[in-house]
Amino acid sequence: MNQESIYGEFAPVLPHVLERFCQELDILNEQTKARTGEGIYEHLISRIKSEDSMREKCERRGLPPTVQSVLRTITDSVGVRVITRFVDDIFEIVEHIRRLPDVVIVTEKDYVRNAKPNGYRSYHLILDYLVPWKDPEGRIPGHFYIEVQLRTIAMDSWASLEHQLKYKKNIGTQELIVSELTRCADELAGCDLSMQTIRNLIRAGDDDEQS
Ligand code: GTP
Ligand code: MG
Repeated sequence: MNQESIYGEFAPVLPHVLERFCQELDILNEQTKARTGEGIYEHLISRIKSEDSMREKCERRGLPPTVQSVLRTITDSVGVRVITRFVDDIFEIVEHIRRLPDVVIVTEKDYVRNAKPNGYRSYHLILDYLVPWKDPEGRIPGHFYIEVQLRTIAMDSWASLEHQLKYKKNIGTQELIVSELTRCADELAGCDLSMQTIRNLIRAGDDDEQS
């Protein structure tokens, strides 16, 4: 039997919401490439939260599996992760997103300047995104939430390793693993800072040559 989607009549709309937003980021990337020879981000990944994870999240949070829960109470049905080469690129992309006329930032968490105690670093946004399609309240243009995570390649490699290890509960060495992971995160952050400095020096050199 074909079980109805937890996203109801919005299941076919969500991929278009995602695609539309990614297109806006792609334009920024191409424009930056045309200007500087290099894109503003390294790559991006995006996803609609799977039916299974969404049902599991509703259960975990004690929510009924309704459109109201998954598109209004829960705000990460549509998710985009932007991976950059340098730390400054994260902030530049955030400012670009802030200026988009069809976006209102509803939540903003800067775990880049304020890392989590475990060392996790990333910039998180929840967007209220305006699209030309009907939303759960029947509005056109409609409003849909998008969760955006922005991180450098180094922050991303740390997060994926840490995520993997979370599921391997190896009791005896748990404490050591956690503290070693935090140390790695801090070392990677130090590298990110050095790489940023190197790029700034290279760019300053380029500017001197041109003048
Ligand atoms: P959730 O209920 O999990 O969404 O957390 P939250 O509402 O407090 O939001 P937060 O911005 O802290 O985290 C949202 C997402 O960021 C998570 O779903 C993960 O993808 C990512 N994240 C946050 N903290 C960590 C962490 O310590 N390690 C890793 N690997 N990912 C994290
Ligand atoms: Mg989440």
